[in-house]
Amino acid sequence: MKLFSGLAGRLLVLLIFLGLGAGLYILMQPPKTSPKKASNHKEDIPLFTSSGQCQACHPALWNEWKKSHHAISYTNPEVRKLSSDFRQKECQDCHLPRPIFETGLTKPPLPRQSRPDEGVDCLTCHMRPDGRILGVHTNPKAGCKPLAEPSLASVALCKTCHNQHKTTDQWAASPFAKKGVSCNDCHMPKIEGKPGRRSHLVKGAHDLATLKSAARLGVRLEKYKVLVEVENKGAGHNLPTEERHRAVDVIYRILPADARPQPWSPTFTRLYRFRQPYLGDPGPNTQLPSGQTWKGSFEIPKPLQAKGTRIQVRLLYHLTPFQKDKEGSLLYEIEKVLP
Ligand code: HEC
Ligand code: HEC
Ligand code: HEC
Ligand code: HEC
Ligand code: HEC
Repeated sequence: MKLFSGLAGRLLVLLIFLGLGAGLYILMQPPKTSPKKASNHKEDIPLFTSSGQCQACHPALWNEWKKSHHAISYTNPEVRKLSSDFRQKECQDCHLPRPIFETGLTKPPLPRQSRPDEGVDCLTCHMRPDGRILGVHTNPKAGCKPLAEPSLASVALCKTCHNQHKTTDQWAASPFAKKGVSCNDCHMPKIEGKPGRRSHLVKGAHDLATLKSAARLGVRLEKYKVLVEVENKGAGHNLPTEERHRAVDVIYRILPADARPQPWSPTFTRLYRFRQPYLGDPGPNTQLPSGQTWKGSFEIPKPLQAKGTRIQVRLLYHLTPFQKDKEGSLLYEIEKVLP
């Protein structure tokens, strides 16, 4: 029997084409910029399709997010370079994610196909699969009608994307976890004078003040021996953490009393590097766990064992291990002079 024979068959084909046409028409409509009403709710609840829609009512918060690395996670040139412009598809999961409550906290997010310039956006963290906005409190009077979701402020939310290199596990083993200090207490701190507000800047390794808060550098002379210690006093996880590119160096130079040094000349010698090597590279993981202190030392050579000799020790943070010393972030410098 022929399927599409006769008038009935031709009508069926026509109907299929009409259906496809209507579908295409709907797909090609430009996205609406104002919130639509979700048809699946009895209540009058707006349906959000873009973070741009949050800007008008949450301007201060939106500006913080816009300055954050979350907002640039898909446009960040560093990420584009390493992912071959995201031809490596698996890089999209966390850098251009669908709402994480869709897949569930701590489970790998799914990649989304839209709004590349919004990266890890408001909807990623705040939208439930049915479109409802999740907050700390339920607030039927607010325009977005948020619902309270206790797990929003949990470490599990961050773990969804931040445990690929065990940052969340490092935190769980840290003194901060025992004291109940969570990711948000350091990375989304409360904003003074604005009850209930938390910063959405999520400052990290690109912010000098945050980096400085992580470490303490100590230098002591014992005759002609220089004793150095570095304490991870302020990071709730290893120092450095996450990206294998990151490196923290202890460097030093010894200058005769009459030397006229430039900031980076004569050059420094590296005493130690805290780092998790790239996969396949030799060497152990030398990241400094939270709350721990590393101790090292070096000797002042015979010809420089004289009054007035200056010993300079620096603690440097590198975004990549290939960065030259002078391109790193200088966290601390301590100078000692031989008596
Ligand atoms: C499981 C989630 C996840 C996946 C998958 C993922 N990333 Fe990331 N990526 C992150 C997180 C979280 C950070 C922030 C941590 C940090 O800055 O150290 C990050 C940071 C980066 C950075 C540092 C950006 C900067 O400005 O310093 C680069 C580069 C990067 N990722 C590249 C990639 C590439 C390339 C891929 C695919 C091979 C990829 N990522 C896949 C979660 C992910
Ligand atoms: C028509 C205005 C309006 C729009 C649009 C809007 N909101 Fe709100 N939202 C409010 C108001 C008002 C409050 C209550 C005051 C506050 O917390 O800032 C609120 C509160 C919230 C809360 C906090 C709930 C709590 O814990 O107290 C979250 C989370 C939230 N909005 C997220 C969003 C997100 C995400 C978007 C965009 C997808 C959005 N809002 C769009 C008006 C709006
Ligand atoms: C959907 C995935 C995802 C979730 C959930 C997430 N992040 Fe991120 N986060 C990223 C990615 C991707 C980056 C790297 C962006 C880049 O630099 O390109 C990042 C970067 C960061 C950075 C580094 C910023 C910098 O300037 O170096 C910090 C800090 C951070 N996130 C904290 C948090 C905290 C705290 C939470 C939980 C409240 C959280 N993130 C939840 C994906 C996520
Ligand atoms: C006690 C404060 C504190 C806590 C708690 C804390 N952090 Fe951090 N975090 C820091 C400091 C300081 C730095 C900068 C030094 C470093 O990179 O280790 C940092 C850096 C980072 C970075 C940037 C890494 C990079 O290479 O760009 C990410 C991502 C991050 N933290 C995520 C988290 C997550 C996720 C949690 C919770 C599981 C958390 N942090 C808990 C203080 C904290
Ligand atoms: C990486 C996840 C993440 C992203 C992206 C994000 N938020 Fe949040 N947001 C949170 C978390 C977590 C809290 C609760 C923090 C807490 O109380 O510990 C929160 C709290 C809030 C609150 C309650 C008030 C406050 O300041 O804490 C509002 C309103 C809000 N977010 C709106 C937004 C808007 C609008 C955007 C986009 C411009 C956005 N958020 C982007 C995770 C996120």
